[in-house]
Amino acid sequence: MKQELNFAAHGLNGQINVPGDKSMTHRAIMLGSITPGKTQITHYLAAGDCWETILAFKHMGVNITATTNTLTIDGRSLNQLKNPRISLNMGNSGTSTRLLMGLLVKQPFEINFVGDASLSQRPLLRVTKPLELMGAKISTQKGHLPAKITPVSQLNGIQYRLPVASAQVKSALIFAALQAKSPSLIEEPIATRDHTERLLSQFGINLKRQGTIIEVIPQNQFQATKLNLPGDFSAAAFWLVAALITPKSHLILKDVGLNPTRTGLLRLLKRMGAKIIIKNYQNDYEPRGDLEVSSQCLHGIDVNAYDIPAAIDEIPLLVLAATQAKGVTKITGAQELRVKESDRIASVTRELNQLGAKITELPDGFLVYGQTPLHGNDSVTLNSEGDHRLAMMLTVAALITKGKVFLKNASVIEISYPSFFRDLKQLIV
Ligand code: S3P
Repeated sequence: MKQELNFAAHGLNGQINVPGDKSMTHRAIMLGSITPGKTQITHYLAAGDCWETILAFKHMGVNITATTNTLTIDGRSLNQLKNPRISLNMGNSGTSTRLLMGLLVKQPFEINFVGDASLSQRPLLRVTKPLELMGAKISTQKGHLPAKITPVSQLNGIQYRLPVASAQVKSALIFAALQAKSPSLIEEPIATRDHTERLLSQFGINLKRQGTIIEVIPQNQFQATKLNLPGDFSAAAFWLVAALITPKSHLILKDVGLNPTRTGLLRLLKRMGAKIIIKNYQNDYEPRGDLEVSSQCLHGIDVNAYDIPAAIDEIPLLVLAATQAKGVTKITGAQELRVKESDRIASVTRELNQLGAKITELPDGFLVYGQTPLHGNDSVTLNSEGDHRLAMMLTVAALITKGKVFLKNASVIEISYPSFFRDLKQLIV
């Protein structure tokens, strides 16, 4: 199935609330499910990836009810989960897979994980290896799904420096370390999103951090809580870049999560000369606020490995912005993009170049030549490769592309932002 994408001749205008944060929704479901009592999560993300996490816990006996805006979880403690007796299907969700491996590593029954074709190609050894060092027993298909956790009676604490900056691996290790018989020290090479640490403290579990090292003392006194999640910065990012590059645009994005470990794109766009206004800033358990943005001229910048973790999911959008900026943008140290839902270095380069962009693929990033008008000649069909973020970035690119642009497999957007096309319809003038 292919869908024709919109050209925004008159810009984008208006105000929207983006859906709840995906990373926080996963973690809140997990922590609510292993905490005795009722946890209530409002403004959660009701989308494909999060349903995989919900279903996994339902199979383990947790009662979860979902209304349009609220999830109510009747949690059990970790040692009260039921044997699911079927493989847990992780669908497309890397976050569900890796975090649940750490959380469920010491269950008294076997846990089997399966996933879709894309997820089954993504690397797992980065999480299974340190878990095995702690005493876990996990088998994979040469480092990929399907995977099986075999019960072990105890886990040891670990002192471990992550070889890649990954919040998924860090979170899995924190979850396992809480269940170990001795304390752990987990070090990250560059700070990654800290939603696990912040949400744990909402559930009564406080971790100590010194610089890039997190100390985890084993504990299990989780307390049920009520959480209102901020909008997903990664969803807001599509509209931020859309407004910046589409002439005559002005947007207000309400109640967006502004955790600095997630807002690297704001800092990179600022370096490119963008002015984005933050209003109604609140420093809650997760910082949040409104973002106001208009069309602007940008210039090229150099981006390196230290900039990547806080902008990891937004780099495809940064590349798109760079195609319209003055001068050249060089992005390096972003090799992690090769193991996302698609090889995003290859897929972003190939698809944007189909629209006339001038992007050269580097082993670990991109060289983007700016000020390239995008055009689809008479008609062009883009391929989302089953990658939700690529599909949305290409839809944003189409807003400034002359000629007919079609997108194959646009429905993958349901994985993280089911109301994306409805929101676009509301904003397009
Ligand atoms: C996520 C962490 C990131 C990110 C993913 C969500 C999370 O992955 O790309 O979309 O919720 O922890 P890595 O930590 O593996 O880079």
